[in-house]
Amino acid sequence: GFSWTLPDHPKLPKGKPVAVVVLDGWGEANADQYNCIHVAQTPVMDSLKNGAPEKWRLVKAHGTAVGLPSDDDMGNSEVGHNALGAGRIFAQGAKLVDRALASGKIYEGDGFNYIKESFENGTLHLIGLLSDGGVHSRLDQLQLLLKGASERGAKRIRVHILTDGRDVLDGSSVGFVETLENDLSQLREKGIDAQIASGGGRMYVTMDRYENDWDVVKRGWDAQVLGEAPHKFKSALEAVKTLRGEPNANDQYLPPFVIVDDSGKAVGPVLDGDAVVTINFRADRMVMLAKALEYADFDKFDRVRVPKIRYAGMLQYDGELKLPSRYLVSPPEIERTSGEYLVKNGIRTFACSETVKFGHVTFFWNGNRSGYFDETKEEYVEIPSDSGITFNVAPKMKALEIAEKARDALLSGKFDQVRVNLPNGDMVGHTGDIEATVVACKAADEAVKIILDAVEQVGGIYLVTADHGNAEDMVKRNKAGKPLLDKSGGIQILTSHTLQPVPVAIGGPGLHPGVKFRNDIQTPGLANVAATVMNLHGFEAPADYETTLIEVADN
Ligand code: 3PG
Ligand code: CO
Repeated sequence: GFSWTLPDHPKLPKGKPVAVVVLDGWGEANADQYNCIHVAQTPVMDSLKNGAPEKWRLVKAHGTAVGLPSDDDMGNSEVGHNALGAGRIFAQGAKLVDRALASGKIYEGDGFNYIKESFENGTLHLIGLLSDGGVHSRLDQLQLLLKGASERGAKRIRVHILTDGRDVLDGSSVGFVETLENDLSQLREKGIDAQIASGGGRMYVTMDRYENDWDVVKRGWDAQVLGEAPHKFKSALEAVKTLRGEPNANDQYLPPFVIVDDSGKAVGPVLDGDAVVTINFRADRMVMLAKALEYADFDKFDRVRVPKIRYAGMLQYDGELKLPSRYLVSPPEIERTSGEYLVKNGIRTFACSETVKFGHVTFFWNGNRSGYFDETKEEYVEIPSDSGITFNVAPKMKALEIAEKARDALLSGKFDQVRVNLPNGDMVGHTGDIEATVVACKAADEAVKIILDAVEQVGGIYLVTADHGNAEDMVKRNKAGKPLLDKSGGIQILTSHTLQPVPVAIGGPGLHPGVKFRNDIQTPGLANVAATVMNLHGFEAPADYETTLIEVADN
């Protein structure tokens, strides 16, 4: 029968502390002026790369290697950390929703049948990110859902959009709104009362994560549910175009707006008897809104009015909290993660990051599961992030503080695994500010040094990797790799992640001298890391895990 007990590794010892360092948004790309990692001084990461070739390698961090629908899909932190922690490739939310829409199964499940009960007398509200980035949501999925729901009885539909500019180019919001408006007008021709009701930029409205700043969710609540916002427009296209025209405006941070009718009344507040679907498949930035929509007891902000609604998520966002309780598509069942195995095999685990990435090395790492497996053996430390700023103004973020916590955890002797996420390359890369991203990369490198020095002191082992690319390429390129220009002749800044591979480096005084990377694995990816880490702890990985990256020469 099934057992949690991991077999001993035939050659590798137990008892060496292992530091697992995830540099967020740190891919490998050609060296040019848009590669911030190259431009920055990063002596520590450089020395790993230029050290022993059998201790540094690249792995895939995007596309099918991490369970995304296609190899045109860039990596992201959710799928990246899922793969790193779970050691297997699971079909991810994006793909599961695609399948459920294609087969029509999405309309047969409990979730859809539940919201459908509101179609007769209520409005169907769809809230989520309007983007084809494929990280949190996809426009084509929204289009299919609109069509499917209207064919199945939804008579009145309101869409509450969040503009992107983070997983896609800034300014692309306008085109997405045009596409959506076109679909909605086609629905109206069929007699369905369908329109956009509210909007705002994802980083300023609704899509906060890990409870960094509830004001973000409140601004969304006011616009979406209460129908109140500082800006009122007759159409979403006018709203987005006008608000983008303000100085320093961008898609990520557009202020909240509501669409009003000729008499100035909001066209789509959420009322008793309505149905609400949050259309994002990705969890982290929907959990907070899901709580506000679902929980009777809720004290994070004053909701003012709490309509009696039927609410479903596109997916269930948190399996442990069962949140939301209704959903259209079942999330991937990511069980038996490496974190759970290792804790059950006695590995005392410390995990740390700052707020904006804290859930990445805990919740995502553990298969979208919140909380400890065994609180007597684990400690998760969250360092508060700066809130209310864009990270280009403080690009060092909390890298130093995270590294110091990791160092202290290693030196304490209380932990066998010390795991961190260093957010700089990603969070600053998303701002599109190249100079600040260079500073960010340097700060992350300095943090790695602090951790590697501590590994050295305790005779431990390190594994340094990344979850996906970002900072290594800050410009949109054509197929030949040449930077693309915008209308005014400037470069098109790439705020998003990339398709680039990421490094994996191993070393430290505790590493058995015979350990080296294998060269017989066809296309290794992030999912191969978990078995590798288990080996470094002296265990063999479960048989169904993706194979380890390392082998041990006899000497
Ligand atoms: C975000 O949510 O910030 C971006 O859409 C993706 O970034 P992440 O996958 O690195 O969190
Ligand atoms: Co990112």
